[in-house]
Amino acid sequence: MTTAVTTAMTTVIRVDRITKSFGGAAALTDVSVDFFPGEVHALMGMNGAGKSTLVQILSGALNPDSGTLEVGGLVQNQLNPRQARKVGISTVPQRRELVMSLTVAENIMLGQLPTSGAMVRWHSVRETAQEALRALGITIDADAIAGDLTVAEQTMVEVAREVRRGGKVLILDEPTACLGPEAAQQIRDLVLRLRDSGVAILFISHHISEVLHLADRITVLRDGRVTWAGLATETDEKGLVRDMVGRDVVSRRPVRPARSNEVGLSVRGLCDGRFLDCFDIDVRRGEIVAVLGPAGDAQSRLFDLLSGRRRFDGGQVSVAGKKLKNGKITDSLASGLRCVTGDRRRLGLIPGLTIDENVMLAQDRLDKRRIHRWSLLTRRAKPLRERYRVVSLAENPPVEQLSGGNQQKVLLAKWLGTAPSAVLLEDPTNGVDVSAMAEIHSLVDRLAGEGVAVLLASSSAEEVMRLADRVVVVRDGRRIAEYQVDRITRDELIATTLGGAL
Ligand SMILES: Nc1ncnc2c1ncn2[C@@H]1O[C@H](COP(=O)(O)OP(=O)(O)OP(=O)(O)O)[C@@H](O)[C@H]1O
Ligand SMILES: [Mg+2]
Repeated sequence: MTTAVTTAMTTVIRVDRITKSFGGAAALTDVSVDFFPGEVHALMGMNGAGKSTLVQILSGALNPDSGTLEVGGLVQNQLNPRQARKVGISTVPQRRELVMSLTVAENIMLGQLPTSGAMVRWHSVRETAQEALRALGITIDADAIAGDLTVAEQTMVEVAREVRRGGKVLILDEPTACLGPEAAQQIRDLVLRLRDSGVAILFISHHISEVLHLADRITVLRDGRVTWAGLATETDEKGLVRDMVGRDVVSRRPVRPARSNEVGLSVRGLCDGRFLDCFDIDVRRGEIVAVLGPAGDAQSRLFDLLSGRRRFDGGQVSVAGKKLKNGKITDSLASGLRCVTGDRRRLGLIPGLTIDENVMLAQDRLDKRRIHRWSLLTRRAKPLRERYRVVSLAENPPVEQLSGGNQQKVLLAKWLGTAPSAVLLEDPTNGVDVSAMAEIHSLVDRLAGEGVAVLLASSSAEEVMRLADRVVVVRDGRRIAEYQVDRITRDELIATTLGGAL
């Protein structure tokens, strides 16, 4: 539990009876929230509850239909992005906004490039950005290209950019969503330091223990309305779940039936010249194996190689006994291997296509000649959409209009609805709420129960403990240890992943 240093009760932002609809359906109704300096204020709620919509209103990206915002004593009906920045509101949105082809330094300094006459002072751009990173204890090279960074590093760069710009309010929309324990802790430490310097922080996360640990004040939204607001000390995990979901949520490890001895996925001597060095792993049918490492690089690369997105330098991959061709996505798909990517925006979904279209893209049984028959497409996609409980205001909107967690559910429906023989899951519950997480975990249990070989890479130790049978630890590109999950504790798991000895 933490306490705020400042107890001053003057608000920095007062949100008063804000309502916002999309196409006639309400995303926020009569929402009032006060934000105070020197406090971490967590916003919680299920996927689609309206959290990011409120963030967008506060950052000036969206205008509310009614209600007011009071910032620094001025009452306004709406803000534009420039005004929001001017009054000191900095935002790291849920949909990250780095320019992938630019360097880290250019991204951090974008819009504020130092110039002499008509010339940009590139040396100063690099120095200032590197200093901004260093000040936050971040060891990323300012000259690196943003697109080459891991998702965790990209988040850090965005946070550094916003912190450098300063301001009275820092909004972080799910900054720790797919970060490993170390990176998430770095973000939390930073949040506390900024809070102690008097900044008001709006923090969004689906990790309840993280929120209870970090927040001074919590507001819970359900279906766009505030269902609970108060001090973090006045609630607990059970209370929060009830306020968010409306009922208790239970997620337990099932007793899995005895697994077959048949190997579903086999990796032998896999090398890529950088992140993997003669790496071996076997996943039996019906087994869930987690692969863990200190940074996510090896896992991400392993998944790229297995799915055929990248070629490997040496080694062999087999699915259900059939050897895969190197670097051939079609061969990997034909073998029944499915890859639920950790980067749903860049690699997983096509933003302009609807939920049903995205889901059906992966359905190999769909007769291509009849794909123009939209009624057929919807008839086949709808049961999957319902099974994965994809929630949206409109019936079947383009996926870019879905909340983050609901986009993740579309991604799972797309790949897991295809009768796979082996599945690669990279952060499968990235950004999904407690209730959907429990459902997704049981769906993965069920897949394994049906004899699918599941290889999991997750940044959450809790998720690994909940889902996996076995954990393989990779360091310096090699498999260095292996544990049965029922023989180690969560803390031991974290210690071994970060490089400590068990
Ligand atoms: N531009 C838009 N057009 C139509 N509907 C939208 C738009 N933006 C958001 N919505 C809808 O508004 C609702 C609230 O979405 P929002 O993104 O605020 O949810 P959230 O609480 O942030 O959820 P998550 O935890 O999944 O990120 C959702 O039903 C979403 O589909
Ligand atoms: Mg959101």
